[in-house]
Amino acid sequence: MARPRSASARLVEHVQKLGEQHPPIDLASVDFAVKDPRLLNERFGHVLDFMARVELEVDRNVLELLTLLPDPPEVDVFFYRDVWQPQEIQHGRILDELQVRLGRDNAVTDLENVGFKLKLLGALSHLGAFQDVSRMLYYLTGMATERSAVLAYNILHDGIVEMGEGAIAETVIVPIKRQEPGHYAFYQLSARHLWAELAPWQKWLVRKLRSFSFSPVGVNNPEQLADFGDVMATLGVSEDVQFVAQIARVETELLWARGHGLPVPDYIVQAFAGAVSAARERAAA
Ligand SMILES: [Fe+2]
Ligand SMILES: [Fe+2]
Repeated sequence: MARPRSASARLVEHVQKLGEQHPPIDLASVDFAVKDPRLLNERFGHVLDFMARVELEVDRNVLELLTLLPDPPEVDVFFYRDVWQPQEIQHGRILDELQVRLGRDNAVTDLENVGFKLKLLGALSHLGAFQDVSRMLYYLTGMATERSAVLAYNILHDGIVEMGEGAIAETVIVPIKRQEPGHYAFYQLSARHLWAELAPWQKWLVRKLRSFSFSPVGVNNPEQLADFGDVMATLGVSEDVQFVAQIARVETELLWARGHGLPVPDYIVQAFAGAVSAARERAAA
């Protein structure tokens, strides 16, 4: 009788499949033809810029990972080195090229500065039991990031189709958005698997640290918080409780044992509301 596959064997299989089915997008496959560059820039230019930056900053995210997890499981290395980074960097290059063709500047990226909080967690992670806490935080961040990407690309896609910019929708947004759910699935499987193995004190610490450190994807300073608020406004989700709830769904379920339809953790609601008001305050100033 075949033995049931272990959770980690399933993960390895998932990563292998992602690598096989989703090679990095070739820049040559993209049709950058835009009917009305001025209008596309006006409507979505800043969204493209934000997304290009976040995607390109994958190179800093890899440095952050190396800092955070001194001794990562093999499957994590396999995922970020062979699948995730090569895919994300192409997303960034394509979006950045598109915004330049719309007459904008390249995204301003930070590819090397690893923050103090991560360095501290990384130092503590030399203790094996603490590394699992850091790893859990990494999976939670990954889940929220990738879920945000899936939702944002879906809305962006519909908006670009509506504008009649079929080439961009079909050869830029569709191929990119097709690759994000696999990333989300990797983090979700990893998070569920690890959470089940953590001791009560580790779970307690994850909840604490997560409550202090949550921020929306791509936000590392007040300026970027306002940028994120602008993106939310353009995508029409500034007041959308469901948007935030979807991003937080599995985190809510795992960490706070709240079932479907129950409230999103306060620190997540506050973080998104903070972005919306930062954008409004900046616009008013
Ligand atoms: Fe991406
Ligand atoms: Fe992704």
